[in-house]
Amino acid sequence: MKDVLAIYPGSFDTVTNGHLDLIERGAKIFGRLIVSVLRNFDKQPLFTLDERVEMLREVSRPWPNVEIDVFGGLLVDYARLREANVILRGIRAVSDYEYELQMAMMNRKLNPNLETVFMMPALSYSYLSSRLVREIARLGGPIAGLVPAAVEERLRAKDLT
Ligand code: PNS
Repeated sequence: MKDVLAIYPGSFDTVTNGHLDLIERGAKIFGRLIVSVLRNFDKQPLFTLDERVEMLREVSRPWPNVEIDVFGGLLVDYARLREANVILRGIRAVSDYEYELQMAMMNRKLNPNLETVFMMPALSYSYLSSRLVREIARLGGPIAGLVPAAVEERLRAKDLT
């Protein structure tokens, strides 16, 4: 799939090792991969948009075919703008499936030419989520091994009280 441009969209409010695992898998399969951070999502984010972009740039440095970008509005419109043919999403467990299926089907309804491709992160990351990492960090628990080292440093530097 070396001629395929894929978009890996998400909120990435704490980049985890699971995200990194998926970026690596995506970078190996697709010719180009755009990891794109949703600009305005409802929740109050822990990391600003700029911080999330910086973190993603740092951790994706080993893969020259990976670009970091931001997007707002509908994902299908953004994909059209970037001329991407594939949306990459990660599925960790069956519990992710329903939400992901709904999004994939709605995106297909909005643009039948855009394919959603699901990849599974390594089994060791199957229980990992940004929400849990944020909670563990806020409550002073150990986050080593859950997030890339650069993210761990930034989490430590944050006032999470
Ligand atoms: O990491 P997340 O929060 O699970 O990512 C969700 C994301 C950003 C992929 C999804 O909310 C999204 O695509 N939002 C953009 C708005 C949109 O297109 N909504 C319709 C989706 S069917």
